[in-house]
This record gives sequence, C-alpha cells and structure tokens, in this order.
Amino acid sequence: MKIRLNRYLAECGIASRRKAEELILDGRVEVNGKTIVDLAFFVEENDSVKYDGRLLRLESKVYFLLNKPKGYITSTADEKGRKTVLELINTKQKIFPVGRLDYNTKGVLILTNDGDFANLLMHPKNKVPREYHVLLDKELDGEHRLRLIKGITLEGSRGKFESIKFTKPKSFDRMNVVTHEGRNHFVKNMFGLLGYTVKELERVSYGGITTKNLPVGAYRLLTPGEIKKVFTDYAL
Ligand code: URA
Repeated sequence: MKIRLNRYLAECGIASRRKAEELILDGRVEVNGKTIVDLAFFVEENDSVKYDGRLLRLESKVYFLLNKPKGYITSTADEKGRKTVLELINTKQKIFPVGRLDYNTKGVLILTNDGDFANLLMHPKNKVPREYHVLLDKELDGEHRLRLIKGITLEGSRGKFESIKFTKPKSFDRMNVVTHEGRNHFVKNMFGLLGYTVKELERVSYGGITTKNLPVGAYRLLTPGEIKKVFTDYAL
C-alpha cells in the first residue's frame, strides 16, 4: 500500500484532501518522527503518521443508510443542543452525513467515512437523482408545475425539477418530485418561490438507494452491490 499523504489524512477523517494539504504545509504532520511538508510524499504500510502529535490509524470504510426521522439535525454537532442523526447510529467509526436533510424532513440519509463516495453522490456534475415525497399546503397549479420543470431562478441560479408526479388521484397537493440538486432547502425554496409551503417532506430515494423495508429511525449497512453501483455509475 502506498498512498499520498494528504489522501491518508483524509481517509483517517482529519480533513478533506485539499484542507489536508494545508495542514501538511503548516508543518502539523509527522511521518516516522519527521515533519513532512512535501505534498508529493507517499505513506507506506507500517509508517507511523502523526497529526499535531496524535498517532493516526487508517480506518476501514463503512456505509450506512438511515431512514431519518423528523426532529433530528443532519450535522455532527448542534450548538442549540438538538438531537443529531449521529445519535441514531451505533458505531465507533467517524462517520458524516452525505448532504443534508432538514430537521423536519425524513427519509434516505447516507452516512459514511468515505469522502470519495460522498463526493460522487454530492457533486453537481454527476446529476445524481434525489426523489422526494412532498405534501403542499394547497393544490399545485398546472402552470406552476410546468414552470418548476422548465426551471426558475432560485437564489441567482437556475433550479428545476426533472419530474413532478401526483401520487394520489385528484390530490394535487401530494406529489413525488425528482431533482438532481443538493442545495440546502432546495425543495422548500422551489415551491416557496411560487407561493407554496411544504408541509411534509420525505426523501424516498437518493442515487437509486431507497428506504424500502427500513422503518423510520432504523438503519442498515449499504450492500456491496449498492456501494459498487455508485462507484461504477458516477465518476469525477
Ligand atoms: N429540500 C428541502 O427543502 N429540504 C430537505 O430536507 C431536502 C431537500
């Protein structure tokens, strides 16, 4: 095993690869007792790597799928003391959520310690589909539906839904929307711009991964097939 030092730091969960380069240049990283400031340095098996004097250990990769309940914040800590999604997963590994679901949104949330996997799912270039079940405060006007699919200007850039499908006959306030967007509050803001309030929001799938047979609040490991599919379907 030979791996570039910044990548090693990222894989230990210290920082992103780019941020890890800064830490190296700042002289905070030691390999086998010597401070390394060379960004092209490779770590080999059995090397002892320290960050700010603390010995690091390369962790194995882990991938969880949580059916997020309402009332949990998608963050590793909350200054207001609210419950975080990490409290729902029993692991010693340092995992983080892939993207964000709002406090009152439920559904598919992936958590991992694999930064590359997270980047593949989140990078806008990959156009990974996210499907949401939405309940609005009132029926969606046909004209508005078309505008949301064609695209509207949201916070200075274009936002669009790939599809909007009503899920119950004659209930035009309940629908499934598909989008490639990961901006915070995207679904609420898109509807909000046209005068609607989102009353209920659930992410039913992300990159084809769904919470089928997984109760709200429960979690499972992603299957090897699900992990492999993300790596084969998407690249950066
Ligand atoms: N869009 C939102 O508005 N909220 C979410 O939680 C996810 C997508």
